[in-house]
Amino acid sequence: MELAALILAAGKGTRMKSELPKVLHPVAGRSMVGHVLDTVAGLKPARTAVVIGPDMEAVAGAVAPAAAVVQPEQLGTADAVKAAREALPAGEGTVLVLYGDTPFITRATLEKMIAARQATPRTAVVVLGFRPPDPGAYGRLVLGAKGGLEAIVEARDASPEQLAIDLCNSGVMAIDGARLWALVDAVGNDNAKGEYYLTDIVAIARGQGLACAYIEADPEELSGVNSRAELAVAEAIMQQRLRAAAMANGATLIDPTTVWFCHDTEIGRDVTIGPNVFFGPGVRVADGAEIRAFSHLEGATLGEEATVGPFARLRPGAVVARGARVGNFVEVKNATLEEGAKVNHLTYIGDARVGQGANVGAGTITCNYDGFLKHHTDIGAGAFIGSNTALVAPVKIGDGAIVGAGSTVSRDVEADALAVERAETKTTPGWARMFREKKAAEKAARKRSEQQAAQPKKPRAAE
Ligand code: UD1
Ligand code: MG
Repeated sequence: MELAALILAAGKGTRMKSELPKVLHPVAGRSMVGHVLDTVAGLKPARTAVVIGPDMEAVAGAVAPAAAVVQPEQLGTADAVKAAREALPAGEGTVLVLYGDTPFITRATLEKMIAARQATPRTAVVVLGFRPPDPGAYGRLVLGAKGGLEAIVEARDASPEQLAIDLCNSGVMAIDGARLWALVDAVGNDNAKGEYYLTDIVAIARGQGLACAYIEADPEELSGVNSRAELAVAEAIMQQRLRAAAMANGATLIDPTTVWFCHDTEIGRDVTIGPNVFFGPGVRVADGAEIRAFSHLEGATLGEEATVGPFARLRPGAVVARGARVGNFVEVKNATLEEGAKVNHLTYIGDARVGQGANVGAGTITCNYDGFLKHHTDIGAGAFIGSNTALVAPVKIGDGAIVGAGSTVSRDVEADALAVERAETKTTPGWARMFREKKAAEKAARKRSEQQAAQPKKPRAAE
């Protein structure tokens, strides 16, 4: 049977107080709606559509290739579903309705809902319920004597008895595709908010003698984001999951709560991650690598047994091959450190290759940018770059070459050659002692004249 997914995201999210549409706010480096789309993609739906508001082109761009359909006016959740009529033609199968601001929904829960929807006898609507600590403004699930779902009542429209129900509507529904449009078209707006409530389709279906059911999920899975404070809570929940997954997979996190992952971080076994390490998007860490405290990585690939940090910054395109080392206060961007290469201290390596086993001394800079264009630096295998060297790209240092400390290298150095570029050292015997004696005498003279100036003048004798 065919599956279609519809994600509602036309809400303005005013409480976020943001220029960015709410569903584009990131959690663990990916937009909230991106998390929902990723989960839904796991179910391989035949069609996926996202309902957006007018002036939300940014969301349309972000959700592609899913279809974005515009709901011109926000007249309620049923009206939002209607906006997707063209994108989701009537058909057999199940239509899943989800919200773009509920990023934790799991594939397992959605699979349970689809299975319940497709069970025999045929079920028109399956609703995902939950029991939050404070039911507050959530819609309440009203059950019949046999425990079946009879209706959903919005908090504003509920009687005191209904308000006492602790089983709430998460908003996620699985609806019979063959009946969807007839049910949605039957929804009116005679209620406290004057809105078209999607939740009304349950009572409408029951009125037609169709079966409805509910599934219950963990409240954490259904926590939504309406404010920056809730965004921070969502981030914390997501980080907690990512840390647990990394540890379950065989990584050691010395202080887990201080390590920040991205949704796509890949961490191997026997990887050790020190305190206060941050992962941006696109980082892959192979088995046995070590990332020491206070390092910041994005778009980087670490080979087996590679070592990074403390206080290292790996930017996009950084590749640290097996056994290579990046030490403290080193920045690497769009550069490959081949096996066993070492860049241990206070260095910038950008747009470069550091050959196998090469050693780059402290304070080395690849001068990759001339103010207009970026250029490449190539350091051969086994080369030795002395401390405080400026490599002015484009430049090539041959295999096994040595560059003397303090050099500015702007021409290629051939393999096994020595390149030194520095003025000869001039030594003047005794000069330092002469300088110290002269300066000490100057200082003493100045002190004497300051003391004299500070002495009170004697009053003159009367004439
Ligand atoms: C809705 C449910 C309520 C449930 C709660 C769970 C209805 C009538 N009520 O209430 O039972 O407990 O969610 O959070 O469905 N949206 C649109 N277009 C609209 C209106 C809403 O796209 O015209 C989208 C919003 O962007 C949001 C979702 O639908 O993603 C829910 O809308 P919201 O206004 O938050 O509904 P609630 O009143 O919270
Ligand atoms: Mg809401």
